Amino acid sequence: MKVTVVGAGAVGATCADNIARKQICDELVIVDIKEGFAEGKAMDIMQTAQIEGFDTKITGSTNDYSKTAGSHVAVITSGIPRKPGMTREELIGINAGIVKTVTQNLLKYSPDIIIIVVSNPMDTMTYLALQQSGLPKNRIIGMGGILDSSRFRYFLSKAMNCSPNDLQATVIGGHGDTTMIPLTRLATYCGIPVSEFASEETLKKVAADTMVGGATLTGLLGTSAWIAPGASAASLVEAIVRDEKKLVPCCVQLNGEYGQKDICIGVPVIVGKNGWESIVEFKLNEEEKATFAKSADAVRNMNNILTTLEI
Ligand code: LAC
Repeated sequence: MKVTVVGAGAVGATCADNIARKQICDELVIVDIKEGFAEGKAMDIMQTAQIEGFDTKITGSTNDYSKTAGSHVAVITSGIPRKPGMTREELIGINAGIVKTVTQNLLKYSPDIIIIVVSNPMDTMTYLALQQSGLPKNRIIGMGGILDSSRFRYFLSKAMNCSPNDLQATVIGGHGDTTMIPLTRLATYCGIPVSEFASEETLKKVAADTMVGGATLTGLLGTSAWIAPGASAASLVEAIVRDEKKLVPCCVQLNGEYGQKDICIGVPVIVGKNGWESIVEFKLNEEEKATFAKSADAVRNMNNILTTLEI
């Protein structure tokens, strides 16, 4: 199995590091546009091989996509990250051109690849990659819901003073500060509704903190987060490579599911060797349905901006 990570910045390198440590594939190529950068990150990670005990062969490449030939999966992390005070949506102008070029380059050498999009605004970049690639929809997956759900569990665990591993909690909708939808009603502590353990007010705060989880970190770090985003993307690569049939919220193209069409947005999907293999539809209540429709409108408006850009 061969995996490519495009973008050797913090998210890309963390993703590559997680892929190596978990020994998810035999061969891993990191690509970056900046001279020597991917080679340097690849060498740095390879120098942990003996310490961590992995055999994955990692190489770097300065924009030479022939090195990525025959990849089964690629993760696109390229583009600019947000600065404090910026929304993910403000990155669209620069990142759309980058994601388009990267998608075309990947396809030249790996026509059947499965692409995981991390670059922001992620829902729109996923939509763009799908359009540009012409690949079957199951081979394009946006990574947002896994990260947002993990943040949701973190904030819940802090509020409830319990282990995040004992919580089940999902975030659907767009991967934006105002578009993500933490499904508090369905969150459980080992199967017991979290509303048994925390007040409505506390749970509202947990949901609000989750939604701005990325923005809070950007404020603290001066740039977008990378440790949890990189680990989340690697877990998606793992689900594909190991054909896990894992149920996770991901950004995928809807074709009538959840009442939406011609849009990529976060919903629960089964992920395995064919990419996202099916959408798991379940009953949202009226309030959740309305929130989902609003989130989809916002994502669709962002997608419409693509037509006004010269990319
Ligand atoms: C975040 C970025 C990766 O949420 O979108 O941290």
